[in-house]
Amino acid sequence: MKRVITYGTFDLFHIGHLNLLERLAELGDHLTVAVSTDEFNLGKGKVCSMPYDERSRIVGALRCVDRVIQEESWDQKPRDVQELGIDVFGIGDDWQGKFDHLAQYCEVVYLTRTHGISTTSLKLDIAMNADARK
Ligand code: CTP
Repeated sequence: MKRVITYGTFDLFHIGHLNLLERLAELGDHLTVAVSTDEFNLGKGKVCSMPYDERSRIVGALRCVDRVIQEESWDQKPRDVQELGIDVFGIGDDWQGKFDHLAQYCEVVYLTRTHGISTTSLKLDIAMNADARK
């Protein structure tokens, strides 16, 4: 069995997230998604619109996702890859080159992001619409 893993926040789940996860699932037989915890995000100065429990439940409900784990630190990846028997680490190409060091444990792939959508842009759209209604 070929096992794939990815990491991300997946706040305000959108079509770019789905495109990425479906393409990752096609790279193997089993897809693990490590969803960042609220505590880990706070450490990065990032506040999510949706709590970990909701973000991880949405990701875990997808047909293309087999398992969800917590992402709690930057340095857990080599351990996860070895403990979970991962063959492929994949992530969007906004991270191009950032995880090349994992190539000593598994294949590393960077997939093209879906153009024109991000959690950040959705948050801006929502804020602008709220302002317009005032
Ligand atoms: N992703 C993608 N296409 C997009 C947006 C995200 O392929 N349009 C991918 C990212 O490259 C990453 C994963 O989805 O591998 C999770 O990204 P995340 O940071 O949660 O989503 P973003 O929309 O990029 O969030 P933000 O705007 O907060 O950076």
